Amino acid sequence: MSAAKDITLNDGNMLPSIGFGTFPQDGNDSEMTTLRALEYGYRLLDTALSYGNESAVGRAIAGSEVPREEIIVTTKLPGRYQGYKEAKRGLYESLENLQLEYVDLYIIHWPLPRLNKYTESWRMLAELKQEGLIRSIGVSNFTSEHIERLVRETGILPTVNQIELHPYFAQQEQRDFHTRHGIVTESWSPLGRGGKLLKEPAITAIANSHNVSPAQVILRWHIQLGAVPIPKSADALRQQQNLEIFGFALDETQMKTITSLEQGRIWCQDPNVYEEF
Ligand code: A2P
Repeated sequence: MSAAKDITLNDGNMLPSIGFGTFPQDGNDSEMTTLRALEYGYRLLDTALSYGNESAVGRAIAGSEVPREEIIVTTKLPGRYQGYKEAKRGLYESLENLQLEYVDLYIIHWPLPRLNKYTESWRMLAELKQEGLIRSIGVSNFTSEHIERLVRETGILPTVNQIELHPYFAQQEQRDFHTRHGIVTESWSPLGRGGKLLKEPAITAIANSHNVSPAQVILRWHIQLGAVPIPKSADALRQQQNLEIFGFALDETQMKTITSLEQGRIWCQDPNVYEEF
């Protein structure tokens, strides 16, 4: 059985193997759920300026007994702050909301290729890292072409690419690209946002065979793919359950069965055209 092991990023910093997603759903109280997540043992928190909950996440960090230096805080640069000078303003706004002096991982939220500003944003992120305001820089929803352009024009590789990844959309090609370049894959909506995926007969059968829940099977699948899942839950028991995925392992057949549920992207958010600001 594999224990939870931190992952070393290509800049030498460490990343926990599972994180807590704070994107608020149904008006859930981010402060309370984040505080509880820290108490249960999550050490990677994932927020974004555009989620509108950075202040709540910051209050949870301040109120937690977990020392700040043990928490990997991730937040993201939204489209409205893309650009060289603008990116700095975006980070400052996040730091102000979070009431932190630095973030551990700062990510460009969407490439927005029509805007054509992600390489200048990236240059600024690299400078802010030099200044010590960011520990690691990464991207989200970037295709291989977007990453290749970043590297061609700036020489700087992202540490992570956070992408839509769940059994309906296993992203084999994109993950292979990340592996070849030493980029860590983070999975957003790792449980496919709950619902139908958790009721898939193939998944419930595997869950029964290990005496675990369907969500645990899916999160374990992410771990064995080498991806870092960031599940969200507002429910105390499910928050705990989602961390308990290191006491069993899926065999090769079970991994393949889960991967064969492939349906493609389920929220029509193709990074080449999707825009949010
Ligand atoms: P809830 O907040 O009521 O627990 P994703 O991380 O893929 O976006 O999925 C989040 C959704 O999955 C939420 O609706 C959440 O509901 C649900 N969820 C999270 N963990 C579990 C779990 N262990 N079992 C069942 N549903 C879960």
